[in-house]
Amino acid sequence: MTFPQWIRACLDRVEIALQNGLPEVDCAPAKLHEAMRYAVLGGGKRVLPLLCHATGELVGAGSQALVVASVSLELIHTCSLVHDDMPAMDNDALRRGKPTVHVQYGEAIALLVGDALQSQAFIALTADDNGLNAVQQAALMRELARASGSLGMAGGQAIDLESIGTQLSRAELETMHGKKTGALIRAAVRMGALCGVTPEASAMSALDAYAEAIGLAFQVVDDILDMTADSATLGKTAGKDAQHDKPTYVSMIGLDASRDLAHQLGRDARTALDRFGPQAACLRELANLVVNRVH
Ligand code: IPE
Ligand code: IPE
Ligand code: MG
Ligand code: MG
Ligand code: MG
Repeated sequence: MTFPQWIRACLDRVEIALQNGLPEVDCAPAKLHEAMRYAVLGGGKRVLPLLCHATGELVGAGSQALVVASVSLELIHTCSLVHDDMPAMDNDALRRGKPTVHVQYGEAIALLVGDALQSQAFIALTADDNGLNAVQQAALMRELARASGSLGMAGGQAIDLESIGTQLSRAELETMHGKKTGALIRAAVRMGALCGVTPEASAMSALDAYAEAIGLAFQVVDDILDMTADSATLGKTAGKDAQHDKPTYVSMIGLDASRDLAHQLGRDARTALDRFGPQAACLRELANLVVNRVH
């Protein structure tokens, strides 16, 4: 199977599970369920599911478990995007090529979509017969809750908002990116691993090092694309970081150095996988994809 075929196969399974896992629009309250489906379905690169699958397949995890973990990650990620776009945060009108949820359905519904998607993620992880035993379910819930909470994604978002118009040090910027974006990427890799035979500590450390590097690379590239790409290509409004005076890698070290950094992080990520040999081919390809993506 080629890498593009592998991606297609993963994404097809995840897309079906997302569709089946969300309440239907004819289920009350209809407007909330319609808005949840609007936010989640038919868009997004699904990078977290791909990372989760590639790691899980490396440690012999079953497909059903990986789809469940991927769904939970994508639901939390989408929750973060819905809230990130709201007027109190980035105040964005375009997401995944469509009007943002609060523009389409109003702010109150957008708030509730985020809340409900978060709950739905944990419903998915704890469903009966979902391919995960009780110990795995608990471990996955812990991983996802930590990554999305105040010491992870939500904390990173808080730092992002506090930092508007301020000058962060390089270390502070790295911490902010590591939390707001890196935490869920790390969780995707770790959750993939937890779906299979638990890797020995040194293998887990290698996977953590990989995830750390591509987690930061992902947000560095997001910062670069905000500055260099157009809204049609991104499916979200370009140029918002400078407009909102957000500290980013581009504002701190410039475009060329940011590009160099993203490539260096891609190399670091691939180096961390050396011990796994050809088995880690998909993780290596995903590192390339994160660094070289154009949207
Ligand atoms: C945006 O992610 C939020 C970040 C973590 C930088 P994407 O723009 O890559 O999200 P998708 O592809 O729509 O899911
Ligand atoms: C958002 O970072 C990260 C999360 C949503 C957790 P950004 O604010 O840079 O994401 P985009 O550029 O709006 O997608
Ligand atoms: Mg933001
Ligand atoms: Mg934003
Ligand atoms: Mg951005």
